[in-house]
Parts: sequence; C-alpha cells; structure tokens
Amino acid sequence: MSARLVVLVSGAGTNLQALLDACADEAYGAAVVAVGADRPGIEGLARAQRAGIPTFVLRVADYPLRADWDRALADACDGFSPDLVVSAGFMKLVGPGFLARFGGRFVNTHPALLPAFAGMHGVRDALEYGVKITGCTVFMVDSGTDTGPVVAQAAVPVRDDDDIPTLHERVKVTERALLVETVGRMVREGWSVHGRKVKVGH
Ligand code: GRF
Repeated sequence: MSARLVVLVSGAGTNLQALLDACADEAYGAAVVAVGADRPGIEGLARAQRAGIPTFVLRVADYPLRADWDRALADACDGFSPDLVVSAGFMKLVGPGFLARFGGRFVNTHPALLPAFAGMHGVRDALEYGVKITGCTVFMVDSGTDTGPVVAQAAVPVRDDDDIPTLHERVKVTERALLVETVGRMVREGWSVHGRKVKVGH
C-alpha cells in the first residue's frame, strides 16, 4: 500500500511536480493525498488541481494568532492522515503545535548544503560568499530555521558566470531528484532519527 504524502507549497511547485510524477509509478510507494499552501493563486496549487488532488489554503493573516494558524495547518494535514508531510518550497516556519503532531515525519528541502546558508536566501548567500560547491539538503524539520537533522544532501558546483537565477535553476534540478529519491527511500524502507543522525532503511 502506498504511503500517504501531504505536500506544502508556496510557489511554482516544481518539487511537488517531481513528486507527483514519481508517484505515478506504483512502485515508488507513495501517493500525494493533498497539497496545502499559505497563499492562493500559485502554480503549485494549480499543479495539484490538474492532478485531481485535494488542496487547502491557510493564510497566516486570516488567523488572530500565529498559533491558531499553526493549529489549523496541523488539523488540515491531519485530515488527510499523512505518513509524511513534505515542505517543498513552503515559505513558512511551523510552530511547536504543528511539530508536536508531525515532528519526526515532516521533511523540508533547502537549496544549500546545510548548515551553510540557512534561511530564505540560501542560493544568494552561497553565491555572495563565493563557495565553489553548493547544493541542496533534505532535512527533518525541527523548531529552528533549517536546523533539523539532515536526511540527504547533494552537491552542485558553482560556475564563475552564475547569477542567482542560473544557480538556483541548477540547484533545483538536483534538488528535485534528491527529494524524489529521499522521500521514496523513506517511505519504502522506513527511517529513524537518533539525535542528529537520520537513518533511512535498516
Ligand atoms: C526550492 O529551491 C526550495 O528549496 C526553495 O524554493 C524552491 C521552491 O521551488 N525554498 P518549487 O516551488 O518547488 O519550484
């Protein structure tokens, strides 16, 4: 039986699309059962709708307190009984309430080699620093900003003529492949977290 994925997005949703494409093959072992967003009108939601997958939108501004939004997000995810929640370009930090319910089964993808260049501008910051190798990281979400235990990483060389868009596009090619491979291995083989160490498979 396929593992149930809820995917959270805020933008173009190309990582979501890579997961949707992978899930089309039953052997992948997972199905995207819902897509959630923090804003309406984004291509990520359109991708889900075209695939016939239920969506939900929860805007922080519509809740009196951030904790209320956090609870609503957790409730919305819970409603689809996910085995794993995947943040794929979801530009919001979740709070303690969400983590209490989904900690240990909530992964995120970041366009840099953590712990380097955490935060909203991983690609820009790597480029400005002048690193020759950057990449992407799939990690378990904890209460910090991109601080959770690392599940998988892949490297991407920086070219002399790269700017933010060209580097981000190249990172995203690797990032989509890494996310698909990592989520697939997790759902098929299982995973465990011991302190900062994540083990996929047995
Ligand atoms: C990804 O590079 C993600 O790591 C970053 O934003 C990008 C989202 O891309 N936070 P997409 O929406 O999946 O195309």
